[in-house]
Amino acid sequence: MTEKRVLITGAAGFVGFHLARFLQARGDRVLGIDNFNDYYQPQLKRDRARELSHSGIRTIDGDITDPLLLQDALVKHNTTHVVHLAAQAGVRYSIVNPQAYVTANITGFLNILEACRHHNGVVLTYASSSSVYGTNTKIPFSTSDPTDHQASFYGVTKKTNELMAYTYHHLYGIPVTGLRFFTVYGPWGRPDMAYFSFTKDILEGKPIDLYNYGHMRRDFTYVDDIIQGTVAAMDLGASCEVFNLGNHHPEPISELISAIEEALGKKASVRHLPMQAGDVEATYADISNSRLMLNFTPKTSLKEGIFKFVDWYKGYFDLN
Ligand SMILES: NC(=O)c1ccc[n+]([C@@H]2O[C@H](COP(=O)([O-])OP(=O)(O)OC[C@H]3O[C@@H](n4cnc5c(N)ncnc54)[C@H](O)[C@@H]3O)[C@@H](O)[C@H]2O)c1
Repeated sequence: MTEKRVLITGAAGFVGFHLARFLQARGDRVLGIDNFNDYYQPQLKRDRARELSHSGIRTIDGDITDPLLLQDALVKHNTTHVVHLAAQAGVRYSIVNPQAYVTANITGFLNILEACRHHNGVVLTYASSSSVYGTNTKIPFSTSDPTDHQASFYGVTKKTNELMAYTYHHLYGIPVTGLRFFTVYGPWGRPDMAYFSFTKDILEGKPIDLYNYGHMRRDFTYVDDIIQGTVAAMDLGASCEVFNLGNHHPEPISELISAIEEALGKKASVRHLPMQAGDVEATYADISNSRLMLNFTPKTSLKEGIFKFVDWYKGYFDLN
């Protein structure tokens, strides 16, 4: 296999960090970009970037809303592949600050597409989200289902990315692959996500907030499985595709709580709350096409994955 020269945006983020480490370990040359914003603790992002630098991966402290920075990075790194993961993530925050999503996810993505357009032959893989399925109720969610009604503005920006990618492929022939990630979790994860905040609250003896009175199901997908699918999509370099990357095994939130309680050896106290704006009750990925085209085979059970997360959490926060 010839060496790939990969530019990863959002490399100090949760998924970007794991992807960068994986690619560098298999022999690709990785350059990261991240703006280390304070949507959640920038220290966690700095710590991830420090780990990456120990593996010889540099992360440029820069913003994807700067088109010249992107073009320069593509040229100087002699980039063959871009994996675009930088984004304003999070469903709930998009209710209070939609502008942040337009800036990072729409303007930022346009800059990525423009940079790719001017860098001949580059293969683009980018993160979409299960949020594009929005108010769909037919399960499992299939990439052949219509996705015209997002429940959150975050979902709108991810759907918009898919439309933009299609058009840039159509106009300029850029190979583009969108990946609809389903609730990714694991070590070095995101503090704004439920599995992380539940763990923190249980350890601190605080009640956990359970929305929609706990009537939620999520297709929790362990980060190593997501990386396997992402790398396969990048290697395939399809001309224009969108894939679901989910566990194909939705679990009720009560199962998540039980897994965390078991891993921590401590019971949660629960505060039941109504459904939050922007949320959906269930996510469930149809991965038949991802299996076929990417050999995507998620292997990690929720229990196993949460055990690994809790193990990392205790070590990172020095709780052992
Ligand atoms: N984790 C999940 O469950 C999940 C689910 C669906 C989709 N996604 C998508 O996957 C991608 C990666 O998610 P993640 O969980 O690693 O999130 P993350 O927030 O940990 O990582 C995103 C990174 O992008 C950086 N970033 C944001 N705006 C930037 C900008 N303007 N310029 C440069 N860097 C910027 C952030 O600092 C962060 O480090 C995102 O596009 C997200 O929307 C994630």
